[in-house]
Amino acid sequence: MQKTNIAGIGMYIPEHVVTNNDLLKYMDTSDEWIQERTGIQQRHYAHRTDETTTTMGVEAAAIAIERAGLTPQDIDFIIFATLSPDYYFPGCGVLLQRAMKMKEIGALDVRNQCSGFLYALSVGDQFIKTGMYKNILVVGSEKHSFGLDFSTRGRNISVIFGDGAGAVVLQLTTKDNQGILSTHLHSDGESAEILAMFNPGTHANHWTTEKLADFDEAEIGQMFFSHAMVDKAQVFPNMDGPAVFKKAVVKFPEVIMEALQKNNLQTSDLRLLIPHQANLRIAQFVQQKLKLRDDQVYNNIQKYGNTTAASVPIALCEVWEAGKIKDGDLVCLAAFGSGFTWASALLKW
Ligand SMILES: CC(C)(COP(=O)(O)OP(=O)(O)OC[C@H]1O[C@@H](n2cnc3c(N)ncnc32)[C@H](O)[C@@H]1OP(=O)(O)O)[C@@H](O)C(=O)NCCC(=O)NCCS
Repeated sequence: MQKTNIAGIGMYIPEHVVTNNDLLKYMDTSDEWIQERTGIQQRHYAHRTDETTTTMGVEAAAIAIERAGLTPQDIDFIIFATLSPDYYFPGCGVLLQRAMKMKEIGALDVRNQCSGFLYALSVGDQFIKTGMYKNILVVGSEKHSFGLDFSTRGRNISVIFGDGAGAVVLQLTTKDNQGILSTHLHSDGESAEILAMFNPGTHANHWTTEKLADFDEAEIGQMFFSHAMVDKAQVFPNMDGPAVFKKAVVKFPEVIMEALQKNNLQTSDLRLLIPHQANLRIAQFVQQKLKLRDDQVYNNIQKYGNTTAASVPIALCEVWEAGKIKDGDLVCLAAFGSGFTWASALLKW
């Protein structure tokens, strides 16, 4: 069977740099704490009103499409992964279709948080291999800076995340030694509340004994998003950091080895592992466990923070632009995050 290839790749990082010390304006934290626990030195934030998750996705997509030698009119399917969409609904896919003046093609939004790009890539891979579509645009984009709790209460989360976008164009490859070898997707909803944003939502405290949303005297029609939720700061993401860390360091190596074993390959065959940029300490732990050399693992969380669905395509774009991967190189992409969901993709560049 012919394989799916990344025919073009692009990224967009907003201009505004926010250092760890800049965050001291809002919360009680320190450059030392952030660097020691996460490796992050700075992140970029989108312009408050001129840039959205979709507009950043458009910037990255335009580069990917041009590098694939195509125009937006050649794209025949859009897959957009994000956890920070412009609208609650409709999704960013249709906003990108409109902004890029594309044909009336299908637009699918993926809500798989940190592993969103890999889920999107896997879906696109299947559509290409079956011949359903020829040129698929896959985008991962996030504008976290709009929805974080910048008080000391939210510091365990807000120092970690940054904004940005990455995109790829998928096509059938004509070369033997090129393309996506396999993708591997997993989930375990047992820990859904460990890294989550509950409100606004329709859960009505159904899933937990702990009260996740306060409605006070709210009547039907006022419960989706109540004044009490805002007053009690229930409209921000929540994370049990140590619990995420513990699971991530098990599932990352597992899903990377699953991809290698499926293709009868070994860690020594890898030119590069590009892990989702969750936390430098997690990546270092995974590197150690898999006995990979420094030059076999790429990290850029120091500059961008964790950009969730955008982190893998941004990192892949950077390594390609820097000439660190060449035709035929074996690359493993892997991610773990909220859900929990985790995934990997093994490809020959
Ligand atoms: C979030 C994370 C960096 C926190 O590091 P940790 O060593 O586990 O720290 P803890 O959450 O146990 O908190 C330790 C202390 O630091 C404090 N702290 C939390 N955030 C802080 C911050 N930004 N600045 C300063 N202190 C902070 C806590 O309040 C706590 O203080 P206490 O001991 O007085 O109660 C770490 O758990 C982690 O990286 N987890 C994985 C998260 C992740 O990857 N998320 C993305 C998933 S894709």
